[in-house]
Amino acid sequence: MSGFKEEFFRHIAQTSDSPIGLEVIEATGSWLITRDGKKYLDFISGIGVSNLGHGHPAVLQAIREQSQRYLHVMVYGEYVLDVQVKLASRLASVLPAPIDRIYFTNSGAEAIEGALKTARKYTGRSAWAAFDGAYHGDTMAALALMGNPAFRAPFEPLPGPVVRLVYNDETSLRAIDERVAAVVIEPVQAEGGVRIPTPTFMQELRRVCDERGVLLIFDEVLTGFGRTGRLFALEHFGVIPDMVVLAKALGGGLPLGAFCAPTKILEVISRDPPLGHITTFGGHPLSCAAGLAALEFILANRLWARAEKVGQALKFKLSSFVDGRRVAAVRGIGLLVGIEFTKPEFARTFTERTIMESVVVNWTLNADNVVRLAPPLTVGEDEIEFAAAAMARALSCLR
Ligand SMILES: Cc1ncc(COP(=O)(O)O)c(C=O)c1O
Repeated sequence: MSGFKEEFFRHIAQTSDSPIGLEVIEATGSWLITRDGKKYLDFISGIGVSNLGHGHPAVLQAIREQSQRYLHVMVYGEYVLDVQVKLASRLASVLPAPIDRIYFTNSGAEAIEGALKTARKYTGRSAWAAFDGAYHGDTMAALALMGNPAFRAPFEPLPGPVVRLVYNDETSLRAIDERVAAVVIEPVQAEGGVRIPTPTFMQELRRVCDERGVLLIFDEVLTGFGRTGRLFALEHFGVIPDMVVLAKALGGGLPLGAFCAPTKILEVISRDPPLGHITTFGGHPLSCAAGLAALEFILANRLWARAEKVGQALKFKLSSFVDGRRVAAVRGIGLLVGIEFTKPEFARTFTERTIMESVVVNWTLNADNVVRLAPPLTVGEDEIEFAAAAMARALSCLR
């Protein structure tokens, strides 16, 4: 072993027995460069974070400028920090009305926790509802919403009660009753295997929530900021949720999350007791500066439209993979594409082979027969060609 790999295995807490283990020394555009001098096309964008690719000049410049001014100065919510205020105002201007208030956090899971707490306090109810296939993070309450029981079981008892619903199944919505404070849903499930619900289902979900006084929370942690061919995935469905949860690409490559809601909902956490929900680092000035630069770039360049166009081209190229024997389906929305294999072993081998072919892809947590592709929204058409050719070679190894 060379470089830091040995110490990686000795001192870094491992999250599985089979880490990808690439020793990344540099990342630029869509590419990762490893210590052994190889280049890998990052077809997962650091799991949905690097929507502008790596080392985008506008983001780096914003980080440099903010670092010259100040880093951390006081816990979030006390001082008026212009960079936080600018990002919150810009988000409020692009989120659907009446969502006009932003609570910044460090991560997606932390933002989910905040949204769940807010829903309990606003409604005075205790239960939450979530869907099969859901992934909302790994802290206790976020994990309680997890759709795959195998991931929940070792950590129970988890916060709840949680009412379990079936994704894209209108009849299952009958289980939403007056105990439920909020329904949490990914408008497109990524870890669930790239599942895209129908507008009718989403509209029925909105109707049921309204009828029963339940808040509707959209987890746009992965789908946000252009990934699905719209700035936010909610735009596909004609539905306005009560809260939107953001993270990943929100920080432009630095850690940042947020839960966003109308003032009348979010104001409940500012009193009884005051400081009942606080965070030291949430909304860090450096993350806000990077996030603001990234958002402005996405808006100025309409990157969601590019994601839609390039995503179509990618799906078209991959559609020839569908043979019913190894690949059951290719589906996607914008630059979030899933290749569904007929069995999990195929997905695993395909992933390994594709990485050997210098393209990083991964399979999904709650659907281990689906490989997920989510390249930067800035990915070049030549890079799409490169990836498709690499994946075709990987596919040819499946017997
Ligand atoms: C849809 C969704 N929600 C929440 C999370 C949790 O975000 P974080 O890892 O920042 O806690 C993730 C992470 O993958 C996610 O994909």
